[in-house]
Amino acid sequence: MTITAASGLEPCVLVIFGATGDLTRRKLYPALASLASQGRLPDSFAVVAVGRREKTDEIVREEAKDAAVDQGNEIDTRTSALFGRLHYLQMDFDDAGAYPRLRDFLTKLDTVYHTRRNRIFFLAVAPQYFGTIAGHLYRQGMATNRGAWQRVVVEKPFGRNLPTARQLNERLTQAFSEKLVYRIDHYLGKEMLQNLMVIRFANTLFEPLWNSRYIEEVQISVSETVGVEGRGAYYEEAGALRDMVQNHMLQLLTLTAMEPPVALDADSIRDEKVKVLRSLRPLGTQDIESQVVRGQYGSGAIDGRALVGYRQEDRVNPESNTETYVALRLHIDNFRWSGVPFYLRTGKRLPVRSAEIIVRFREQPGVLYFGQKHHMLGPNLLVIKIQPEEGIFLQFNAKQPGTQSTIVPVKMDYCQNCHAGINSPEAYERLLADVMRGDSTLFTRWDEVEYAWHFVDQIASLWEKTGAGVELYPAGDWGPVAADRLLARHGHRWLLPFQCLLGERPEDEGLSDC
Ligand code: BG6
Repeated sequence: MTITAASGLEPCVLVIFGATGDLTRRKLYPALASLASQGRLPDSFAVVAVGRREKTDEIVREEAKDAAVDQGNEIDTRTSALFGRLHYLQMDFDDAGAYPRLRDFLTKLDTVYHTRRNRIFFLAVAPQYFGTIAGHLYRQGMATNRGAWQRVVVEKPFGRNLPTARQLNERLTQAFSEKLVYRIDHYLGKEMLQNLMVIRFANTLFEPLWNSRYIEEVQISVSETVGVEGRGAYYEEAGALRDMVQNHMLQLLTLTAMEPPVALDADSIRDEKVKVLRSLRPLGTQDIESQVVRGQYGSGAIDGRALVGYRQEDRVNPESNTETYVALRLHIDNFRWSGVPFYLRTGKRLPVRSAEIIVRFREQPGVLYFGQKHHMLGPNLLVIKIQPEEGIFLQFNAKQPGTQSTIVPVKMDYCQNCHAGINSPEAYERLLADVMRGDSTLFTRWDEVEYAWHFVDQIASLWEKTGAGVELYPAGDWGPVAADRLLARHGHRWLLPFQCLLGERPEDEGLSDC
């Protein structure tokens, strides 16, 4: 039984370091199972799970199957065939002597599965191992396998600040050249982020208006209902700024703000994204104090479920000063965006799970309809819904039927994952398939990481230096009051997530509370 229906992909072996970890179980095995059942894996393919614990192939195959089922995959003949090609190799990542064993094992698999010495090394391990593993692979000739290709995939966190990210990168790229390194930001694998470029650059309706002349403000909001979910130790070191803003939020920003690329290849797109990061207005001490808000969730409730505060979470310092919420106002100092504020906010234990980009257009001059009491005009809003619903929401003004000329905001909603049978691939499915194809468009290039750290470090180092406090917000609330004040000072307010926008008809500004 082959595991693909002519996917056209070149043969290869996927080697997963950290195979017994959470990422492999929750994301990689299920993504591989989906790819297999859709026939999107190479015909000649095998997976090697590398871990420290003692296990057999049979045990690991069962674990992989269970992991796939847990995430809703069905086990069909193709997924069974895939897991039949899953092998386990026990080794210590620090042990130089284990790598020749890995090399020989892979060579053996090449003979069995005709995988032609092409390799993907997925480092699903803590970043302190990136350099060690890459170095050993290099020394055993596995990073430069003549006549075959090698790719290495790494996960965040990519450093804790710019200097540590640089060190990590140097060690990695001493072994694998930049072109072979695939740095995952799983937000880039989300369907609507790829759609964002199409929406922007394939529509006469939007692109001519996509600038400071017509746009009043942009809000990028990623709210989560989850807390730290057993990752207290990691999160204490990271906080929301490093965990979400440095990567996902700034990636959302670059795709929203970038110029049209000269071509659709990876480097042309990434060149434009880097220009946005380079145009971010530097933040001085006063800017950080007045334009960046940090919060931390206290106890509270979501959907009637009582929740403990962050400081009571497992492996969290009971006096922790780590932020679980960040809101900030920033500017992109370039021709297109001069003067337009971008508001970013992200937090854990907020009332709804939602990620969206809200573009609010400028109002028409107050001559005809604006300013007249009986009209309830709302702003023109375009919402790019990233999750949980995927789609676009547009609000504009129209006459209320049956009235003489009362004007009300009306809403058009396009939901692309609401229809039965339309199931967007999970981010990891797409990303794994892209690595197999050798397409790095949806992975972050080193200079993107570097500029993103450069921006975030200004904030993090000031917070560290001044011992900036956190404002507590109850779990289940929309974050600290200071975040509302931040916008209010500029005559703005947070536009609630799209689910809320579709609710009650707005009382003011075309918006309502959830
Ligand atoms: C991860 C963060 O990168 O993204 C987590 O480390 C966060 O803290 C997660 O919960 C959010 O991803 P998603 O896809 O659930 O929005």
